[in-house]
Amino acid sequence: MKSPISLQKRLGLGLTLGMTLLWLGATVGAWLVVQHELNEAFDSALEETAQRILPLAVLEISNREAPREAQHVATLKVHKEYLTYLVRDELGRILMQSHDANPKIFNKQPGEGFTTTDKYRLYGASALRKTLFIEIAEPLAHRREAAREALFALLLPLLALIPISLLGTWLFVRISLRSVLAYRRALETRGAGDLSPINVARLPAEIDPLADAVNHLLERLRKTLEAERSFTANSAHELRTPLAATLAQIQRLRQEAPEGPLRLRAAKIENSLRDLARLSEKLMQLAKAEGGGLLSEAPQDLIPLLAHAVDEWHRSSGQRIELRLPAQRSVYSAIDPDAFGILLRNLIENALKYGAVDQPVEVSLTDQALLQVINAGPAVPEAVLQRLTERFVRGTSEASGSGLGLAIAKTIVLGVNATMALASPATGREEGFEVSVQFLCLPG
Ligand SMILES: Nc1ncnc2c1ncn2[C@@H]1O[C@H](COP(=O)(O)OP(=O)(O)OP(=O)(O)O)[C@@H](O)[C@H]1O
Ligand SMILES: [Mg+2]
Repeated sequence: MKSPISLQKRLGLGLTLGMTLLWLGATVGAWLVVQHELNEAFDSALEETAQRILPLAVLEISNREAPREAQHVATLKVHKEYLTYLVRDELGRILMQSHDANPKIFNKQPGEGFTTTDKYRLYGASALRKTLFIEIAEPLAHRREAAREALFALLLPLLALIPISLLGTWLFVRISLRSVLAYRRALETRGAGDLSPINVARLPAEIDPLADAVNHLLERLRKTLEAERSFTANSAHELRTPLAATLAQIQRLRQEAPEGPLRLRAAKIENSLRDLARLSEKLMQLAKAEGGGLLSEAPQDLIPLLAHAVDEWHRSSGQRIELRLPAQRSVYSAIDPDAFGILLRNLIENALKYGAVDQPVEVSLTDQALLQVINAGPAVPEAVLQRLTERFVRGTSEASGSGLGLAIAKTIVLGVNATMALASPATGREEGFEVSVQFLCLPG
């Protein structure tokens, strides 16, 4: 599956990229206008200069003794000329030229108006009824440099503005999406069994209906689950009395029946009824585990709860349980004592039922609130182990059971924000089965 695209990243990059492109477009536009205006200013200066020099040249040439002779204009000070000019007659003979002027760069035939060559911009004007022409040349390099510098001056601020706008957009988008992120966190951090409505203030108008829809859905889900649970709990409860009555009747029937097939049949029915009673008891436990209310308001000391539960089993199991408690006096966690009792009952029952009969069952609690129930016996294959916490899933054992014990344990563990891990073989051994439950350890 493709990983979803972050809205924040998309908006941040998209906005900055779009803005940068627009800026670049605007800069290029501004640069073209500046270039045009610069050219106009340069052209006007060129034209002005030609118009200034021309009358002086006419005067000078007409005052000469031999007017048709070429003459270099002497300079007062040695310098490199920026503008050069030629004064020619209508046939193109040079009558006067500035001292740096190179005749090759000018048009062959004198003319009027602006012309452009590879390297020069030329302007021509005439006097004395088009018998005298002046042509003035300006190198284009100068204009190009001016245009280049204008472009740099326009682009340079962008270098600083782009990162600032990226940062600004990113921050702005982040602030705008803050409530959406808070909503996501609220969804992520809630426990698996928490179906209460999610309330996050000031969600954007686009997300708000979505959050409403999610809340409606949660509400419907909660009602459906509650109905299912109360049905399970009620039916299990309602079954209890008739089951107990029938069991008593069948026991009496078995005792009263003569030795033979009738008594055997009565014994079979009695066993089936016991299984049924156990199943209804497990269903009630599951309904309680799923019904919530597994967290206690005040932290509970797990040590006396554990000691009490183990004590109960001790009597019925013939002292097979080895209990190891932490050196510390108390270990606190927020779990409802009834739920803790159900959890322990299921884990210890399993260990006694499926563990090797001649070996003890180890029950231990550390001061970090790690509960472990370990028994000996053949290891369970990994593939089977993975699915044992699902409802009605059983291993290969011949012993009777409904496959709900570990599902009940898992539901309780999830409901109190603890974690449960199954291991087989048990850690550091070659066989056996180990269940570890890590509770949230609280200060007392
Ligand atoms: N301590 C254990 N040692 C070995 N196998 C176990 C242990 N605990 C559970 N199992 C295996 O996991 C299966 C599922 O256990 P779970 O407690 O969920 O159901 P169950 O014991 O079969 O029935 P129920 O507990 O509902 O009467 C068991 O059938 C058994 O094969
Ligand atoms: Mg069990």
